[in-house]
Amino acid sequence: MNYLDDIIAKIATENPVHGKKLRKNIGKQSQEYKDKANEFFSTYISFAKKTDKDLDYGIACYLRMLADVNQEYIAFLETGEYTTKSFEDANRRVYNNPEVMEYYMHGLLMSQYLWVHHNDIYKFFVGNITKHKTEVSNYLEIGAGHGMYISEATKLLSDTTSFDVVDISPTSLEISKSFIEKQDINYMLSDIYEYEPSEKYDFITMGEVLEHVEDPISLLKCVSGLLKDSGTLFITAPANAPAIDHIYLFKNAEDIRDVITAAGLTITKEYAEFVEDVSPEIAEQYKIALMYGAFLKKQ
Ligand SMILES: C[S@@+](CC[C@H](N)C(=O)[O-])C[C@H]1O[C@@H](n2cnc3c(N)ncnc32)[C@H](O)[C@@H]1O
Repeated sequence: MNYLDDIIAKIATENPVHGKKLRKNIGKQSQEYKDKANEFFSTYISFAKKTDKDLDYGIACYLRMLADVNQEYIAFLETGEYTTKSFEDANRRVYNNPEVMEYYMHGLLMSQYLWVHHNDIYKFFVGNITKHKTEVSNYLEIGAGHGMYISEATKLLSDTTSFDVVDISPTSLEISKSFIEKQDINYMLSDIYEYEPSEKYDFITMGEVLEHVEDPISLLKCVSGLLKDSGTLFITAPANAPAIDHIYLFKNAEDIRDVITAAGLTITKEYAEFVEDVSPEIAEQYKIALMYGAFLKKQ
């Protein structure tokens, strides 16, 4: 079933400019990419069905998320700042607002195959995590959102690995529980700053959370405190990427690397790409978003 073409056609009806952009970006991808995307959307449909939703619901959520991003981007170009100024704001506006969190997480899930850069960073994670298979007896994901990363980790790591999720949003935990096939995962509703596990972790994933706090160095130090000395931390964070719950503005990859070093961590492998196919000069001029991901160790 060709879900991808169908989805893009429906998006183009509502937003022709964006539809054209998706057609161009997806059109350049390999058949393997398109097959995987169709497989993913088939999984999405089964997941959505569990709560009486369908692919059209996912498309509507994606369009709402996109409208938010566009509005935030206009404000960002005008002011050079993100509109959300504090964690309290983000918590009230998004994480503890079930209606917003619901369409945001469904929209984000849809974007994992509609936005090639989201997929690239996901592939970077998937392609490297298996190297850690034998060392990971326990695994924590912080801010799982929709659950896609930990869902993949449960398939790629050992059967004996134990999996924990911490998220501050009840809606996010509900969505993750429904999206992830594996049943025996411990879900904890908590601010990561208040989480006190009985044991430190071999592997921690924290995708797109660093830009959601006021002080990313203190967050990384807190997370490093949850990691065993031999453990690995995988993080992703975008630069110049306005969104309704982004607080801390990283202006480039160097800003993110500086925060990592200041928190006492070292980069063992990294990914950094602009989301548009432009030169670094043009990206800087137009504040084009950059996706950053890295595997980290304690120094
Ligand atoms: C943008 S989503 C990230 C989803 C997914 N990890 C990804 O990479 O696409 C951010 C998630 O972090 C959670 N979050 C934000 N601040 C948090 C905090 N201080 N403690 C725990 N979870 C937090 C939010 O509730 C949300 O589920």
